[in-house]
Amino acid sequence: MKLELRGVSKRFGRQQIFENLSASLEFQHALVLVGPSGGGKSTLLRLLAGLIPPDSGTIHLDGSPLPNDEAALRAYRTHLGIVFQAYNLFPHLSALENILLPLTAVLGLSRSIATERAMSVLDRFGLADHAHKRPHALSGGQLQRVAIARAVAIQPKLLLLDEPTSALDPEMTAEVLDLLAELRDEGRPLILVTHEMGFARHTADMVAFVSGGKLLEARAPESFFSSPSHPEARQFLERVLRY
Ligand SMILES: Nc1ncnc2c1ncn2[C@@H]1O[C@H](COP(=O)(O)OP(=O)(O)O)[C@@H](O)[C@H]1O
Ligand SMILES: [Mg+2]
Repeated sequence: MKLELRGVSKRFGRQQIFENLSASLEFQHALVLVGPSGGGKSTLLRLLAGLIPPDSGTIHLDGSPLPNDEAALRAYRTHLGIVFQAYNLFPHLSALENILLPLTAVLGLSRSIATERAMSVLDRFGLADHAHKRPHALSGGQLQRVAIARAVAIQPKLLLLDEPTSALDPEMTAEVLDLLAELRDEGRPLILVTHEMGFARHTADMVAFVSGGKLLEARAPESFFSSPSHPEARQFLERVLRY
């Protein structure tokens, strides 16, 4: 998969987040974005998801530009699986109903076909016994797996995940990371923001370092983690790998 940013600028109020950012990133299955907090990773992911528009410039995925009118953007988003920290499950719906909703309301599948698909994904993710529980009755790891199941059930062309493990304890983190590694092995392309450097190292085929609204380095994980070339990337890794 090829992701190109061509002169992308984005500001929030008076704060310029990206200024004329250009980059071309090729990856096979998993692109991982790392970098210090506030560097622009989530904003970049939201731009890629078509959730916010760039002020100028274009983003191309496999050569096609992201659309810029609302109707085409809505169609574009139906091919994406999005798991963001803020994307919570509906509290009044069961795990199964949360997964059914986009399948019936957005993709227009019949209730019976959607149910079959949702149950098979829940089953695969080891969640079949929890299908009828509401979010309050699920653990953090289970919730996040339901959120990922919901994203995968739509059979997206691309999965976008923003720190899907940041609110989880180590055991639940491992659960979710195992699941992501499996999806990657299946060949489902994903772009992930994470602070889990070990996971990034083993799962990414491309790591991009984003800091201060710039994409300072993008390399294969082995060379990025063993010998980062940008001084900021070096400092960042020293800091996060110290403990
Ligand atoms: N909706 C928003 N309104 C105003 N400022 C924002 C908004 N979203 C992000 N920012 C700012 O943009 C910068 C980059 O944020 P973000 O993309 O969330 O970074 P990261 O995900 O790397 O921590 C931060 O300074 C943040 O405060
Ligand atoms: Mg973020």
